[in-house]
Amino acid sequence: MDLESKFSDISKTLKGSAVRELLKYAEQPDVISFGGGMPNPKSFPIENIKEILNNIMDNYGTKALQYGTTEGVTELREQIAKRMKDKFSISTNPSNIIVLNGSQSGLYMVSKVFLNRGDYVISEAPTYVGAISAFNAQMPSWLTVELKEDGMDLNELDAKIKKAINEKKVPKFIYVIPTFQNPAGLTWSVDKRKHLLEIASKYDLIIFEDDPYSEIRFTGDPVMPIKYYDKEDRVIYMGTFSKVLSPGIRLGWVVSNEAITRKIALLKQGVDLCTNVFSQYIALEYLRSGMIDKQIPKIVELYRKKRDLMLKSLEESMPEGVTWTRPNGGMFLWVTVDWGLDTEKLLKKALENKVAYVVGTAFYPDGRGRNSMRLNFTYSRDEDIVEGIGRLGKAIKEEIKNKN
Ligand SMILES: Cc1ncc(COP(=O)(O)O)c(C=O)c1O
Repeated sequence: MDLESKFSDISKTLKGSAVRELLKYAEQPDVISFGGGMPNPKSFPIENIKEILNNIMDNYGTKALQYGTTEGVTELREQIAKRMKDKFSISTNPSNIIVLNGSQSGLYMVSKVFLNRGDYVISEAPTYVGAISAFNAQMPSWLTVELKEDGMDLNELDAKIKKAINEKKVPKFIYVIPTFQNPAGLTWSVDKRKHLLEIASKYDLIIFEDDPYSEIRFTGDPVMPIKYYDKEDRVIYMGTFSKVLSPGIRLGWVVSNEAITRKIALLKQGVDLCTNVFSQYIALEYLRSGMIDKQIPKIVELYRKKRDLMLKSLEESMPEGVTWTRPNGGMFLWVTVDWGLDTEKLLKKALENKVAYVVGTAFYPDGRGRNSMRLNFTYSRDEDIVEGIGRLGKAIKEEIKNKN
């Protein structure tokens, strides 16, 4: 059969990469991988979940095992609305919240609701690799804007939007991860959050705010989400239970307005009818019982120590010309190698030294990022962080020597 001629345009664009092939080696047991984006297994509230599971079977068994409404379990949406209010002073009606099978699915659905082929999506550079693949399913054009220490370069953003509009392009939304960004670990200042809203207002654009990490803060004062400053209802906010409960339960949520929620729900009916109801009851009890507020400080403490250890190890092991971000929260830091080294080539050397990372190019839709890499500091054991960063330092030094 001539399968190739039957594939859709989009599936023809779906290809693996040489780097993904290389990352297979990262799964070998003697390789220390800072590549994955996984929470630490110690962050999972296993005892709490055992208790919750019994409670669900006793009290909601028949509902939890049944199909549910597409928008999500009503009591969970109410609890999410309450948490948005308590934590971020964001007032939202539960009817403006839709619960999804992970926020990854939100990236896909929101982009499907807004993007036509060729429409412009605007993002930070670098940006979340999963957003690049979700949005690419709509075959958009990308407009990327340099991420600085305190957020996007907003002069560059303004100029690029102006140019795109002059060229009769259609920018639809600006996708940002303003707090403890994945991959860079950076956080936008309040000024830039407000200024972004002004720019979005000037050009009548939507802001799509992805916020998986803001509750995982180690140091510094909390910063409110952009949604908090939004007076014109132009921010779509997305949260997830993956980093504060478990990614395996696959639950995220989108807060928008009724019109957008309805479009997502109509789309979702064709995708999966409803979000995993059983998981929704777990999350509901986790919120309602207050277990979440006892668990988050434990997660923060665990990750703060790991971040400190990784920063210290980098300090000790990296040669001059290698720099990195110092995140106040989240799960990742971003390393830049100023030696003209290509981190895709370096990955081979790193794997020979039994250590892995994600290459910077994965986080740019346009192939940039060759001198950078993302390191995850939450998953590895402490001794592996020290050993793994030592191995990475050695690999970089060897590559620099080979280059000269
Ligand atoms: C910025 C960002 N958005 C979305 C996701 C997807 O998370 P999930 O689908 O587990 O909610 C992740 C996961 O790492 C992420 O870092």
